[in-house]
Amino acid sequence: MVKTTVSLIKADIGSVAGHSVVAQPLFEIAKRRLKEAQKSGLINSFYVFNAGDDLELLMTHFKGENHSEIHKLAWDTFLACTKKAKELKLYGAGQDLLSDAFSGNVKGLGPGVAEIEFEERGSDPVVVFAADKTEPSAFNYLLYRIFADPSNTAGLVIDPKMTGGFKFEVLDAYEDKSVILESPKELYQLIALIGATSRYMVSKIWRTSDNEIVSVSSTTKLSLIAGTYVGKDDPVCLVRGQSGFPSVGEIIAPFQHTYLVAGWMRGSHWGPFMPVGLKNSKCTVFDGPPRIVCLGVQIANGKLSADDDGNPLIVDFFEDVAFDGARQEAIQMSQFLRRMGEFEPARLGPEAMEYTTLPQVLKTLEPRFKKNK
Ligand code: F6R
Ligand code: MG
Ligand code: MG
Repeated sequence: MVKTTVSLIKADIGSVAGHSVVAQPLFEIAKRRLKEAQKSGLINSFYVFNAGDDLELLMTHFKGENHSEIHKLAWDTFLACTKKAKELKLYGAGQDLLSDAFSGNVKGLGPGVAEIEFEERGSDPVVVFAADKTEPSAFNYLLYRIFADPSNTAGLVIDPKMTGGFKFEVLDAYEDKSVILESPKELYQLIALIGATSRYMVSKIWRTSDNEIVSVSSTTKLSLIAGTYVGKDDPVCLVRGQSGFPSVGEIIAPFQHTYLVAGWMRGSHWGPFMPVGLKNSKCTVFDGPPRIVCLGVQIANGKLSADDDGNPLIVDFFEDVAFDGARQEAIQMSQFLRRMGEFEPARLGPEAMEYTTLPQVLKTLEPRFKKNK
């Protein structure tokens, strides 16, 4: 049985009016490139969208995860978009392409990647999350709610296929090592780790009873690749739903409320994670607040299910009025936090600020300090 792979590869390669939104001409270039790749048979289907200033390439194919031709397609698409972004002098043109040399895989070169490979079931809903002005660990709380919290996911209690729980792969971003923990057996240890969002991020989740893969997130830490601040890592995450996995409604339910994530202006502030529809997928106030879009797709025979003209059937979940309450909360929290200006905890703590431009400012003051007698 041939397996289907869903690849979501993304990069910020320039945006219009600062770090706000991907420019229309870049969408056109990306769509043209992916259309050609579809015609040549490299990919089976695609959808191009944006999360704020990040260009998102959603693709389906039969090549498996980490396939060099798929990664090269994404890389070349980002390069072509960068060329246009430079012509138009868009802001941050090519900012996430941290290397000139592609060598088989975009991982470690700047773009973010989430890829999930599975044998298709009778029907396969996939939920696609993409965020701007925050980091991969912003999904820790979301994934905990979906896969480990029975007050969010009724299926953990009611569906016998899920009562065995889920296994989480947790990555230590600083030491580049990972550990697998089982929920509910090791739930408290899991929270002990993934509650520390500055260091640990959830990378993969499997259903414990049969090791079936159910979620994959991007885990790039750009600052750790580049050694300095180069924008936040603006993560993506794929979640499979239904028939023994959390239902689509359970997967999106955590966003009835906002919660705080690190990023926002200059990657240096706590901000409320605001669910938005694609129409509002642009950053505004204080370069934010951090935004998340969420699309629903169906996978059929290696493709995104599509209409008769071949246009993929996409559901823009966060466009719905059911998320208006969370948006209102996020707006109020933004106002509250911004009233505190550059005072912690509105600003991130010293460890996170190491990877920003603040240390350069503090360095100029060093010679003026006098030891107290
Ligand atoms: C956040 C982000 C922006 C910039 C800010 C300053 O990830 O990219 O908030 O940090 O707009 O940008 P520069 O220093 O380029 O003017
Ligand atoms: Mg940007
Ligand atoms: Mg971005």
